[in-house]
Amino acid sequence: MNPKLGLGFILLLLLCYSIESKCRKGCDLALASYYVWQDANLTFIAEVMQSSILKSSDFDTILRYNPQLPSKDGLSSFIRINIPFPCDCIEGQFLGHFFNFNVRSQNTYTVVADTYYAKLTTIPSLMYFNNYSEFNIPDNGKLNVSVNCSCGDSSVSKDYGLFMTYPLQPNDTLNSIANQTNVTQELLQRYNVGFNFSRGTGVVYIPTKDADGSYRPLKSRKKKEKGAILLSASPQLSPRILHVTGSNRPVNATRSQGLTGITVDKSVEFSYEELAKATDDFSLANKIGEGGFGTVYYAELRGEKAAIKKMDVQDSKEFFAELKVLTHVHHLNLVRLIGYCVEGSLFVVYEYIENGNLSQHLRGSGKDPLTWSTRVQIALDSARGLEYIHEHTVPVYIHRDIKSANILIDKNFRGKVADFGLAKLTKVGSASLLTRLVGTFGYMSPEYAQYGDVSPKLDVFAFGVVLYELISAKEAIVKANDSSAESRGLIALFENVLNQPDPGEDLRKLVDPRLGEDYPLDSVRKVTQLAKACTHENPQMRPSMRSIVVALMTLSSSTEDWDVGSFYENKALVNLMSGR
Ligand SMILES: *[C@@H]1O[C@H](CO)[C@@H](O)[C@H](O)[C@H]1NC(C)=O
Ligand SMILES: *[C@@H]1O[C@H](CO)[C@@H](O)[C@H](O)[C@H]1NC(C)=O
Ligand SMILES: *[C@@H]1O[C@H](CO)[C@@H](O)[C@H](O)[C@H]1NC(C)=O
Ligand SMILES: *[C@@H]1O[C@H](CO)[C@@H](O)[C@H](O)[C@H]1NC(C)=O
Ligand SMILES: *[C@@H]1O[C@H](CO)[C@@H](O)[C@H](O)[C@H]1NC(C)=O
Ligand SMILES: *[C@@H]1O[C@H](CO)[C@@H](O)[C@H](O)[C@H]1NC(C)=O
Ligand SMILES: *[C@@H]1O[C@H](CO)[C@@H](O)[C@H](O)[C@H]1NC(C)=O
Ligand SMILES: *[C@@H]1O[C@H](CO)[C@@H](O)[C@H](O)[C@H]1NC(C)=O
Ligand SMILES: *[C@@H]1O[C@H](CO)[C@@H](O)[C@H](O)[C@H]1NC(C)=O
Ligand SMILES: *[C@@H]1O[C@H](CO)[C@@H](O)[C@H](O)[C@H]1NC(C)=O
Ligand SMILES: *[C@@H]1O[C@H](CO)[C@@H](O)[C@H](O)[C@H]1NC(C)=O
Repeated sequence: MNPKLGLGFILLLLLCYSIESKCRKGCDLALASYYVWQDANLTFIAEVMQSSILKSSDFDTILRYNPQLPSKDGLSSFIRINIPFPCDCIEGQFLGHFFNFNVRSQNTYTVVADTYYAKLTTIPSLMYFNNYSEFNIPDNGKLNVSVNCSCGDSSVSKDYGLFMTYPLQPNDTLNSIANQTNVTQELLQRYNVGFNFSRGTGVVYIPTKDADGSYRPLKSRKKKEKGAILLSASPQLSPRILHVTGSNRPVNATRSQGLTGITVDKSVEFSYEELAKATDDFSLANKIGEGGFGTVYYAELRGEKAAIKKMDVQDSKEFFAELKVLTHVHHLNLVRLIGYCVEGSLFVVYEYIENGNLSQHLRGSGKDPLTWSTRVQIALDSARGLEYIHEHTVPVYIHRDIKSANILIDKNFRGKVADFGLAKLTKVGSASLLTRLVGTFGYMSPEYAQYGDVSPKLDVFAFGVVLYELISAKEAIVKANDSSAESRGLIALFENVLNQPDPGEDLRKLVDPRLGEDYPLDSVRKVTQLAKACTHENPQMRPSMRSIVVALMTLSSSTEDWDVGSFYENKALVNLMSGR
């Protein structure tokens, strides 16, 4: 293959990837590796994991797959047990099984996914397959809980036809799992192509023995099943695809080819050596942040301050997305790309933004509180950045991960939008089942969480949550003060107050205490109204980024005067400017 085609080809493969990953049929058995949490007992586990194979309170079936358990009462916490379940081909799209969960009082998606189903399912997939908003799960309702599975892959081995769905824990490694399961590392990796077993989250598929203690061979099939293995490769681009470029040294094989598949005008390709030198070998002292996809380091590169994001090879999809947007899009309120590097890991090099991220300023220690007018200015700056990608670029982009941690603050306290790893070209219509739900819990719009609908309005929704954060300095999900998993969204917190006939006093209670009395309540109220409009349940009712910019400009010109003088001197002026 012509090396010049390398990355273009990879991008093309990425596009084909989701079309290819479909299943034709499932298999009659898979095992779920259930990590027994503190207060779990077999009664509970058999009930939540019941299926056509395992009836509720059928402990004998469980014991058959767990010879190490002495009896149904011999269950201790913090061990893993195997639960049999049927592995179905769901809507021709992926291998999995739907369990029915009867909601108990005040359950949240987090408790259901992380505790009751022991991470066999995920919060996004619960949100995807259930028609309830994250804060409004009815007591006594039923939830569709999907657990993925594998039926084997004849191109890897015909000896294995029974697989365990195993949620990784933070201390797992490829070596420790190979050691526990007596399956070679090589085989494990081939069944989970490109999957990093040390990442601590996600599920992997492990060939496993049947109740009779022997491996169950793969049943021969007429057609080769691609589904299971492709899906098990995790939704990220796997190194196997990088291998397609014709080398068995996947990552640095791409280096000399350059990023010819996408235009990277004006950005520089760095060597690993240069980046390592500039960051003192990616030392902890140089670490300045941690995002969803990689760690960010401070560097001094060729005389310029820079921030370097180091990403896993597995996250190459996000890497390409980010490069693609940032090489096409230039705006004062978007972080500027300097270059990249594809040796060893994937690196994106950006301009260094002096003052860190907004989340840090609102909630971190050691920072002075942002004044109200600065907050409005930062809101306006980020809105301008978003308006630009929504309306003025060709093609148009949707960021999909707007949150306070992704809004950076420069030395003049102006805002810049960062982290385009999840950015997507706009497409009309809703996403297919396979589209991976991405983004951050607490900022996700209901139509996206429930139906995967992608439109610029999902950024508007998340921006509304950021506005509420600017007012209150609270996290998007406010944890209750007891240790239970109960938590509430910032949106619900504000809406409770806004729905009162005269919210004035209670609204003041939501305002960041670090502002003291130094804010015009009227301006706060206007931002609150804007946030409420942005987080409207119906995407069509949310304003466009363009109208948000206009609204914030009006507000910003009035709040600037506000901070100059005292409350009383400026009250009249503020009221005047804001049209009272
Ligand atoms: C089993 O565990 C569930 C959930 O923790 C609990 O509600 C139930 O009382 C327990 N049952 C027994 C018999 O211990
Ligand atoms: C199951 O696999 C599909 C396709 O890869 C993925 O989108 C989904 O998140 C997975 N679900 C769970 C619960 O792991
Ligand atoms: C669960 O899935 C079924 C079939 O896809 C659907 O009819 C039902 O409404 C879903 N339940 C909820 C609570 O969304
Ligand atoms: C799902 O939610 C939508 C919007 O909230 C609602 O209109 C619809 O009736 C719901 N469907 C079911 C089956 O509950
Ligand atoms: C990981 O932690 C669990 C529980 O803390 C422990 O049982 C297990 O042995 C640990 N595994 C390794 C490989 O250290
Ligand atoms: C597991 O690890 C131990 C020591 O780390 C080693 O002695 C043993 O042979 C390993 N077992 C397998 C099956 O690889
Ligand atoms: C591990 O596998 C080897 C060969 O595949 C076998 O000889 C050995 O008995 C197995 N050990 C265990 C504990 O299953
Ligand atoms: C796998 O993930 C771990 C933890 O996130 C990371 O330290 C390690 O570098 C990753 N390995 C590879 C090969 O990317
Ligand atoms: C490429 O990677 C291999 C190991 O995978 C390493 O030995 C070699 O030095 C790397 N080449 C360059 C140019 O970095
Ligand atoms: C934003 O700041 C927080 C500290 O509040 C830090 O933990 C996080 O890693 C930063 N996020 C990014 C993407 O840099
Ligand atoms: C949180 O703490 C306050 C006072 O300490 C108390 O009044 C309130 O009930 C607590 N809220 C919850 C949900 O426990």
